[in-house]
Amino acid sequence: MVIMMRMLIMGAPGSGKGTQAESLVKRLSIPSISTGDMLRSAIAEGTETGKQAGRYIKDGKLVPDEVIIGIVIERIGREDCKAGYMLDGFPRTLGQAEAMAKEGIDIDAALFLDVPDEVIMKRLGGRRVCSCGSIYHVVSKPSSKGDVCEVCGKPLTVREDDKPETIAKRLEIYHVQTKPVIDYYAAQGKLLTVDGTRNVEETTELVLSLIGRG
Ligand code: AP5
Repeated sequence: MVIMMRMLIMGAPGSGKGTQAESLVKRLSIPSISTGDMLRSAIAEGTETGKQAGRYIKDGKLVPDEVIIGIVIERIGREDCKAGYMLDGFPRTLGQAEAMAKEGIDIDAALFLDVPDEVIMKRLGGRRVCSCGSIYHVVSKPSSKGDVCEVCGKPLTVREDDKPETIAKRLEIYHVQTKPVIDYYAAQGKLLTVDGTRNVEETTELVLSLIGRG
């Protein structure tokens, strides 16, 4: 079996990218690089990037390629990425995928979590998050400690971009701008499509078996 360690995970907003990245990186001992988490941290810290990104995220729009590409390239260049990485939420435009290839950043597999829009609406409507990065769902993955995080004990919150009208906007942008990236990796023979409607554990096992790590 081929062992694939430089991976990216794609899918609609709420398809479970962050949830799967969290489980997979523990099993594969590689870092997760989530552009969404990096941007939210930059907003919380009040950096220049955070200020630029904040208004796009709030409206459910993509942050411009020129803001995001440099951040990801710098992150992949760090020591902990030498043995591999899991990119979560990048690339999500053809411009980002092409910029990555131009920099010589190769990937072994592009996972695509296939989840229909009606399931997405239910998932994002019930999502609760913690500032430590943990992700919960009021029905499918509740915290055993109620309204606080199981990992660090901080209060759980609703993400600012999980309002119904913003979710609809994010989905619309995904269909127009990110679907071509899926075709881009399919054309390179690197796409692994996974049924993302199964439960969290089943989906993780399915991915691990597809990449030869089951
Ligand atoms: P980002 O944070 O990447 O958001 P997203 O792509 O919209 O994806 P989400 O984080 O909303 O969902 P997810 O797929 O990770 O699902 P999750 O695991 O949480 O980006 C946010 C914003 O930042 C973007 O809108 C954009 O503005 C900007 N940005 C980020 N990257 C960018 C880039 N590269 N270029 C430009 N702009 C960028 O799961 C969702 C819920 O479902 C949770 O409650 C979870 O518990 C539950 N769940 C998960 N899996 C299952 C399952 N199998 N069964 C049942 N429930 C499940």
